[in-house]
Amino acid sequence: TLGPDVVDIRSFSKTGMFTFDPGFLATSSCESKITYIDGDLGQLYYRGYPIEQLAEQSDYLEVCYLLINGELPTAQQSAEFNRTVMSHTMVHEQLTRFFNGFRRDAHPMAMMVGVVGALSAFYQDSLDINNEEHRKVAMFRLISKIPTIAAMCYRYNQGLPFVYPRNDLSYTANFMHMMFSTPCEPYVPNPVLVRALDVIFTLHADHEQNASTSTVRLAGSSGANPFACIAAGIACLWGPSHGGANEAVLLMLDEIGSVDKVPAFMEGVKAKTHKLMGFGHRVYKNMDPRASVMRRICYEVLNELGLQNDPKFKLAMELERIALEDSYFIERKLYPNVDFYSGIVQSALGIPVPMFTVIFALARTVGWISHWNEMIADPGMKIGRPRQQYTGATKRDYVPADQRG
Ligand code: ACO
Repeated sequence: TLGPDVVDIRSFSKTGMFTFDPGFLATSSCESKITYIDGDLGQLYYRGYPIEQLAEQSDYLEVCYLLINGELPTAQQSAEFNRTVMSHTMVHEQLTRFFNGFRRDAHPMAMMVGVVGALSAFYQDSLDINNEEHRKVAMFRLISKIPTIAAMCYRYNQGLPFVYPRNDLSYTANFMHMMFSTPCEPYVPNPVLVRALDVIFTLHADHEQNASTSTVRLAGSSGANPFACIAAGIACLWGPSHGGANEAVLLMLDEIGSVDKVPAFMEGVKAKTHKLMGFGHRVYKNMDPRASVMRRICYEVLNELGLQNDPKFKLAMELERIALEDSYFIERKLYPNVDFYSGIVQSALGIPVPMFTVIFALARTVGWISHWNEMIADPGMKIGRPRQQYTGATKRDYVPADQRG
């Protein structure tokens, strides 16, 4: 199954030979049937379906079914799947008290890492990874409860009471209800905005062996339970070079301040004093196909909300214009990535900046858990154990403290 440009080096280890590949620039760590990326052509497929078609014609829960099961559901399978997901949205009541241990102003991602990891303490009846039924229940629990936990992280950070899920709403409308409802004013779903967030979820649902998915696989390869593995993925995603990028985009726009400051900022980027956040990608050396979809959604949302002339949006468009015309960016194939636009859309939807990475984690949970399940179900699974190039001291003898100097 290996492609023509892939060399199988597994037998090297038996001869004592190793490859040195920091950052895994040229290393496949696994075989997978879930997601295919052609970085040069700027193409992304989930289970063979182009991301543009899924974003246009499908919805997030159907995409979840597809990623986990490998096929699109029939109408009956889809109804059953949606019903099961929406019937697991409540969290154990004791979990709500777990939050009280956090500082009032804790970052929502800090709480996500802790609370999702703690799920294994609450759902001990789905931890046997060798039991297919346990794995299935754990997957449903994660997909169903992640929006509830994400909304709770936000509400706690804001000092607002938790809002219980409404299972009569769609997955995404229910999340917005839990985020935005107040005791005096229940959230009324706006179909354009709900659809926009649903597309954000779809676009972020999987992206093959990125840092967080590789983290989930590595954690899972030791036999760790799925809740702990997903918590590991969330921790990895938090970094500004990965899931924290859309948050970093908005902070960057705030830092630049106004359109007239853009040229000086871009000179600083070229002098390498700072990066242009939301640009560049390890795999895409062409336009990120998710960015093209997100760009369209961005315009739809801003039109719906009458924000076309919002200064922050104008500033972002000026950055985009200069970057697409400037030889520095063209030569390095630095195009806007999905996070450049998703931050702007989420901001317009009223989602506060510290929640951006939480939304990413929510959407990516299905990708992580699909990869975890694919790996566990593989009879040839091995614990992940990279080697290293040792560059430290050679052998030396211990010196007692009074003789050191
Ligand atoms: N701004 C300015 N220059 C950049 C940027 C950027 N955002 N990204 C890369 N470059 C430059 C590098 O300085 C380097 O220049 P050089 O050849 O003169 O040394 C060249 O482009 C190649 O960059 P690398 O660092 O080798 O690219 P790599 O594949 O390792 O990095 C990464 C990819 C981490 C995404 C990087 O582009 C980056 O930091 N971007 C900003 C953060 C971001 O938007 N992350 C989101 C990724 S998408 C996601 O997680 C959903």
